[in-house]
Amino acid sequence: YTRAEVAQHRSPSERVWVTYGTEVFDVTDFVELHPGGADKILLAAGGALEPFWALYAVHSQPHVLELLRDYKVGELSPEEAAPPPADTGDPFAGDPPRHPALRVNSLKPFNAEPPPELLTQSFLTPNELFFTRNHLPVPAVEPGSYRLRVQGPGGRALSLSLAELRQRFPKHEVTATLQCAGNRRSEMSRVRPVKGLAWDIGAISTARWGGARLRDVLLAAGVGDSAGDGEWHVCFEGLDADASGTPYGASIPLRRALSAEAEVLLAYEMNGRELPRDHGFPVRVVVPGVVGARSVKWLRSVAVSPAESPSHWQQKDYKGFCPSVDWDSVDFGAAPAIQELPVQSAITEPRPGAAVPAGELTVKGYAWSGGGREVVRVDVSLDGGRTWRVAELGPRPERGRGWAWALWELRAAAPAGARLDIVCKAVDRSYNVQPDSVAPIWNLRGVLSNAWHRVSVTVTR
Ligand code: MTE
Repeated sequence: YTRAEVAQHRSPSERVWVTYGTEVFDVTDFVELHPGGADKILLAAGGALEPFWALYAVHSQPHVLELLRDYKVGELSPEEAAPPPADTGDPFAGDPPRHPALRVNSLKPFNAEPPPELLTQSFLTPNELFFTRNHLPVPAVEPGSYRLRVQGPGGRALSLSLAELRQRFPKHEVTATLQCAGNRRSEMSRVRPVKGLAWDIGAISTARWGGARLRDVLLAAGVGDSAGDGEWHVCFEGLDADASGTPYGASIPLRRALSAEAEVLLAYEMNGRELPRDHGFPVRVVVPGVVGARSVKWLRSVAVSPAESPSHWQQKDYKGFCPSVDWDSVDFGAAPAIQELPVQSAITEPRPGAAVPAGELTVKGYAWSGGGREVVRVDVSLDGGRTWRVAELGPRPERGRGWAWALWELRAAAPAGARLDIVCKAVDRSYNVQPDSVAPIWNLRGVLSNAWHRVSVTVTR
């Protein structure tokens, strides 16, 4: 068979085919028997199993392969094994391979989110599934010749190799959620069109990051602790640049960069492995509790400055406005750049429009708030917000540090034939709550979309 033929078999009605190595399997009859759930195995339908099995170690056992053998229907044609030839004149031709489960919002530059039902499968998002937000092609960085330039205020500068960054500064680890300002933008564009990628609920993910504290590196560059008193900033630039040579850039207040409690990292590890190329190899900034846009990837320079980053993405983007502001009246200079994000939550299971079996229904989701304001409660309603129950929050490895999300679930009775309007809303440590609807927080860039999340399902008879 060709891969194109396998790809035609993606649902039980057209049969479910998968490949493993060069072998082709028809697993239609196994779908309902899959211990991880039918919805999960269907994510691999029509393609290769390896990328999915790599995520869940339970598959690397001999009996799993034996079981698969019973469903073999053929082999891939020999010419199918070769990878597609590289397309040279394309600036994105050097981008890394990606996991097939990712929902792609734009291929070039690459922007993609994990499917909701995989997002809350584990507290730490597997690196391969972590949402990706790239504005430009992924730079190819040679780790041996990589240098990070750190510019202090008095003309003092450091130039650090990767080995120096690892050896001169103690490694610090933080479990932190990153969320893009545009997460859930697609709900805003249902109110009125907005400019931007149509993110669903998956422009958010969590990892354990390891690296040097930005604070330690700044102190080594001669930035004194007292420098944090004024309104100074730390500007970051990436190695990714547009056609005019302008790099991606962003900044955070110096006060946050120097604060030991804020735990800002120059990260070189993600979930115990070196940073993947899409997530900033070899070094990125991680600013816990702050909008993802400030966590600059492929970091080439850090500079202390009396002014915010002059970058487009600091000055002319990632800002919030009143719903009445349009593209004729917008004044980007009038609004502050987004830093700490507001409280957020969303339902990952069941999916909108699903038909769920009668009996007990499990509702799952995530909740998170910016600035280290830990989520203290998630309320869930099954009747559109008239009555509420408190969801159970899952274990949180770094309770008290407040940088990571809470995964939650609620079990509820699903009476046969009912229509359930499921709603969730989270409360953070400062008792901030989410707004109940999208229209009053609509803004022309579709950022900060954090209204109550609503999912309607029917219960089968
Ligand atoms: N850094 C560079 N150099 N280039 C980028 O395009 N995108 C930013 C930020 N850092 C970006 C960047 C945005 S908008 C977000 S939301 C996060 O990276 C996403 O990080 P991720 O792709 O690792 O999820």
